[in-house]
Amino acid sequence: MKRRQFLESALAASTIVLSHRASVGSTSRQSRSTDSRIEVLLNEPVGKINPEIYGHFAEHLGGVVYGGIWVGEASKIPNVGGIRKSLIDALQRIKPSVVRWPGGCFADSYNWHDGIGARNQRPRRTNFWRDAGEWPKDVPDGPWNYDTNQFGTNEFMRFCRLVGAQPYVAANVRSLTARDFYEWVEYCNSPPGTTTLADMRATGGDREPFKVRYWGVGNESWGCGGNFTPEEYAAEYRRFTEWVPRYGIDPAFIGAGPNSGDLDWSRRFFTKMNERRALGRMWGWALHHYSWNVSGGRTTDWRQGKGDALNYPIDEWYELLREADRMESLITEHWSVMGEIDRQHRVKLVVDEWGAWYRPGTEIHNTHLLGQQSTMRDAVLAGLTLNTFNRNAEKVAMANVAQLINCLQSLFLANEDKFVTTPTFHVFDMYSAHQGAQSIRTICSSPRPSYTRNGQPGDIRGLSESASLSDKRLVLTVANPEAVQSRVAEIVIRGAQVKSTTGTVLAGKDIHAHNSAEQPDAVRPVVMQTVSGRGGTFVHEFPPASVTKLQIILE
Ligand code: AHR
Repeated sequence: MKRRQFLESALAASTIVLSHRASVGSTSRQSRSTDSRIEVLLNEPVGKINPEIYGHFAEHLGGVVYGGIWVGEASKIPNVGGIRKSLIDALQRIKPSVVRWPGGCFADSYNWHDGIGARNQRPRRTNFWRDAGEWPKDVPDGPWNYDTNQFGTNEFMRFCRLVGAQPYVAANVRSLTARDFYEWVEYCNSPPGTTTLADMRATGGDREPFKVRYWGVGNESWGCGGNFTPEEYAAEYRRFTEWVPRYGIDPAFIGAGPNSGDLDWSRRFFTKMNERRALGRMWGWALHHYSWNVSGGRTTDWRQGKGDALNYPIDEWYELLREADRMESLITEHWSVMGEIDRQHRVKLVVDEWGAWYRPGTEIHNTHLLGQQSTMRDAVLAGLTLNTFNRNAEKVAMANVAQLINCLQSLFLANEDKFVTTPTFHVFDMYSAHQGAQSIRTICSSPRPSYTRNGQPGDIRGLSESASLSDKRLVLTVANPEAVQSRVAEIVIRGAQVKSTTGTVLAGKDIHAHNSAEQPDAVRPVVMQTVSGRGGTFVHEFPPASVTKLQIILE
């Protein structure tokens, strides 16, 4: 069925629920003609889906921290100790698991000592991003370019506690010393009353240690984090992580891994670490992969070109999703390189920056550097990326979408008291059911949408799926990147009978659908009618440009 027909029939029935009721209700294989097939192999577990795969990232960049997370205690905007209340409420709903902070590139310029102690005595510092080329001309001075340090370590930890997330702290390798690093660990984790830094933590309001387990050792050390060679960075990594005090916590150190497909960075770093038998000191290897459109051909310079977040032709829709879908091969390729040296695969992948990146112009406020609107395209991108992580649960131990609020692929857009959830938020909400469950192998066959971009033909994966099992609950999530046509799939559950199925679908009125302060619910998930499939097989129709969750209760 074409997108227009699909949506018209949905609207004719008042809500999209009714249209889905019809499609989901048709469970007999014979009554529908299918073009796709998804098999769920219950006897083939892949690995536990670490809740940390559903992680977030908040950097001192534009409107992320100041104006996004932190509004200050004196603000008229409802807040809890200075932290935006609407953000806390929304995050609690999606079980955010982990938040990475304070950067990003900012991390390698940040002196954590500036962000502790009495707030009215904290120094103001020039923010790393002050001179970024993307700033509009008329931006007023404020904490986005001169950081007031009102949001520091204690505030971040409080934020994590309020939303139920674990903290993931990225340390400064480029412009601080190893001593600063282990003193930050001491500030966070040393027992009450044992050290001067523990006393200072208590003065900041937190007598009990923060018990931070996840520590990033720099960020993008091949670029803004120091422009190191892999060999130089390996030496820094070893220096920073040698004999860091533990305080009864097994630290999970995360190395600054590659930019997208840079296998050389992974191979040379692992080789150098292995020469010194130091790989045992690494828990995770951080891969960064952003997706963007490039007008007029490819370039390796991230500042060039890029497409628009809101106005895009269909070929840009497909091109962007194809870029995102490279995630699967990036994971497999880096994993294989890591395995050449780390044969037991002790070190796991951490994709601590991923998402869509568009050119400036759709940010909701001019202080939101790298801010952008977020449409159904971003929802499908999130759906297919999270499916990829689920399918590779034995390799990917953590992932952090970039970034939480007012920046790149955000879950939230906020300005003053306006607060909007984006389609990406809804995907995280729907997918939260996967957290901690057992990833199950799936096999999907589905027609590949094709397109032409800049005269070049291309095609992308059809339906993208992942499944997880916890007790008798099987969750199957499916993203349909096809912009125009729905896909009708035969769903085969191998190894059990289906007792009942419920579903939720996220689909906008067109491929550009998005939420705004004026229309905050233009894109929202819709719960479908309960259905049941016999013999472990049923048929389901996935609307064009959509993300679907089927929750299947097994006998
Ligand atoms: O997320 C924005 C920036 O992108 C981060 O600061 C940096 O790590 C990456 O290049």
